[in-house]
Amino acid sequence: MDDVLRKPRLERPDIVRLLGAQGDELQALLDYALATKLKHLDNNVHLRGLVEYSNKCRKSCMYCGLRKQNSKVVRYTVSDEEVLQCARTALELGYGSMAIQSGERTDCEFVDGVERVLRAIKRLSDGKLGITLSCGEQTEEVYRRWFDAGAHRYLLRIESSTRELYYSIHPDTPEHSFERRLECIDTLLGIGYQTGTGVMVGLPGQTLEHLADDLLFFRSKDVAMVGLGPFIPHPDTPLWALRDQIPSKEERIKLTLKMIATLRIMMPEINMVSATANQTLDAFGREKAVMAGANVIMPNLTPQRYREEYLIYPDKACVGDRPEECFHCLDMRMKVVNHNILYNEWGDSVAFIKRQQGKG
Ligand code: 5AD
Ligand code: SF4
Ligand code: FES
Repeated sequence: MDDVLRKPRLERPDIVRLLGAQGDELQALLDYALATKLKHLDNNVHLRGLVEYSNKCRKSCMYCGLRKQNSKVVRYTVSDEEVLQCARTALELGYGSMAIQSGERTDCEFVDGVERVLRAIKRLSDGKLGITLSCGEQTEEVYRRWFDAGAHRYLLRIESSTRELYYSIHPDTPEHSFERRLECIDTLLGIGYQTGTGVMVGLPGQTLEHLADDLLFFRSKDVAMVGLGPFIPHPDTPLWALRDQIPSKEERIKLTLKMIATLRIMMPEINMVSATANQTLDAFGREKAVMAGANVIMPNLTPQRYREEYLIYPDKACVGDRPEECFHCLDMRMKVVNHNILYNEWGDSVAFIKRQQGKG
């Protein structure tokens, strides 16, 4: 095990081996990943104040509560003034960055709206707030407009880098094209976004080999950020029917931690999110992810009246908690595991910054 961990470059069989680690070997993996993070990045954690900007979505991903076919969801778009109020809260709490997330929409009202709020946040904060977008697949023109308006990071999860597994969780229709998703990630990288991607862990039919290929995919794209989290079945989606065919909660969390730890060893300087979904399955899920190598957390700033309508998966953590409550809670939780939240800084990906400098 020690020999595998210390290899200069992990290959597919090594990765499968690490993802299958149990007992003492698992502990050795987690320890080595934490040591790698502390060596390359320090014990700092960066925050992204999250605004769930709109839950309207043109897609029908088979795992997601916001899918178009789910008529139980009351659809909304947050107003410009409300987004700005979130930005003021972020500034007051010392959050250095915001994240704007939504269902996938390509209508002009939405595209223009995102551009408008990006500019407004930049103006309001005098450029102090960094901004991550996570608004799905768009044309290159739209990605460029948003980049020019001030977004500098973009997160678009591949969900699974294996074509067959991708189509087992998405309908096989033109709007759910795997190739299009890949193209979008390349477009984002080309424009110069700090580009992030990621997958869900514990999907029906997913093997350690699939997960190893996901990690190899992240490395092959040289992405700046990764967000990965456990799959949580949602009762109003088609994948609910397969909930008996997935690993237990404990297994999904464990596998997520192994994915984070292995990736931290493979890509020591990227930004990695500790997903809120970890907290849904385990009361200390976010802390465990940070101890396994994650270095970013996204506390929710969405106005309270919309929150119940943004349930991508059930039992989301912090849905009823006010921003100040999460602020204190997270600060304390990170201190308990010897980490330090870095306030008032963008917290860009060190991997990305170094690559830029190399190019310059
Ligand atoms: N469980 C966990 N994560 C989910 N996502 C969507 N549905 C679920 C679910 N049921 C994740 C996807 C998507 C992001 C918005 O949320 O990875 O990219
Ligand atoms: Fe829409 Fe994203 Fe949910 Fe898919 S995962 S249904 S694109 S919100
Ligand atoms: Fe939201 Fe703890 S982080 S209540």
